[in-house]
Amino acid sequence: MVESESLSGKVYVVTGANSGIGFFAARRFAELGATVVLVCRNEQKGSLAMQDIIEQSGNSNVSLCLADFSSLASVSKLADKLLQDFPKIDVLCNNAGGANATRIETVEGFETTFVSNHLSGFLLTKKLMPAILEAAKTDLARVVFTSSDGHLNSALDLDDLSLQKNYGTLKAYGRSKLMNLLIAREMQTRLAGTNVVTSSFHPGVVRTSIWSKGGAVARILGMVMYPFMVNIEPGSDTFIWLASSLEQGSIHADGNYFFKRKRAKIADFATDEAASRLWQKSEELIAPY
Ligand SMILES: NC(=O)c1ccc[n+]([C@@H]2O[C@H](COP(=O)([O-])OP(=O)(O)OC[C@H]3O[C@@H](n4cnc5c(N)ncnc54)[C@H](OP(=O)(O)O)[C@@H]3O)[C@@H](O)[C@H]2O)c1
Repeated sequence: MVESESLSGKVYVVTGANSGIGFFAARRFAELGATVVLVCRNEQKGSLAMQDIIEQSGNSNVSLCLADFSSLASVSKLADKLLQDFPKIDVLCNNAGGANATRIETVEGFETTFVSNHLSGFLLTKKLMPAILEAAKTDLARVVFTSSDGHLNSALDLDDLSLQKNYGTLKAYGRSKLMNLLIAREMQTRLAGTNVVTSSFHPGVVRTSIWSKGGAVARILGMVMYPFMVNIEPGSDTFIWLASSLEQGSIHADGNYFFKRKRAKIADFATDEAASRLWQKSEELIAPY
């Protein structure tokens, strides 16, 4: 269990909070006294998670907001509501994510994995930045991205972000997770001189429902990996540490990528230049929202 001080008075926003490591981390933040906003796409699952967390933590400052991350319009609406309700946001956890068996283009014209795992979190973070910077005026504020070692085999193609060519479930997923770590790094560079710390992490190969989603490839991979998977508690440890610990390593995460609370190996192609170009391209794509 991560040692953290009381989070009383702090506002935590956690996306993908109805299950898996997002649920576990959100419950821990509530146990530590934070005001926690669960961001979920399904109202029923979100309400059940909220009730569970309130009961188990004894903290009633837990609320639910709905948004589908496959839609930038939906995420933009979510951001507006959050800004209205919370002028100060101490910690944003960009955790929602998944894999998709086939290439599905959204009504907004993006490949689903790309928008759900990367572009929506990017839009949300950009729109919430005034509230995050407000928190950073008085204390440390943090943005944490749930990435994955899946990024290691998935080089970026900035000319084909929506994977028009050669779609593959793992390729789309891995690239989106590469984007998470690149954006965390670039964001830290851009926030230099502020009191905001960004980071990304690999949770490990964790026994969550993510393996039952994303079609046959994800299911087969899940079955093969099952004996080697870790439980949700150790899978959430680095997440909770980066989002709430007062240890120097987490306070000075400096935009880096972590596994088991330590800086972890990143792909050679995860360069500063790729991060900067991805940022610019992503900004262009979210501009209408
Ligand atoms: N499990 C692992 O081994 C592993 C390894 C590396 C990285 N990760 C990352 O860890 C994060 C959490 O995954 P998990 O393993 O805890 O699995 P999970 O239990 O399936 O959690 C994923 C969460 O993201 C939400 N989500 C997915 N697509 C969404 C969308 N379009 N809009 C809104 N919410 C959406 C899910 O909501 P629904 O319940 O409605 O689908 C769920 O709450 C993900 O980013 C994943 O990529 C997991």
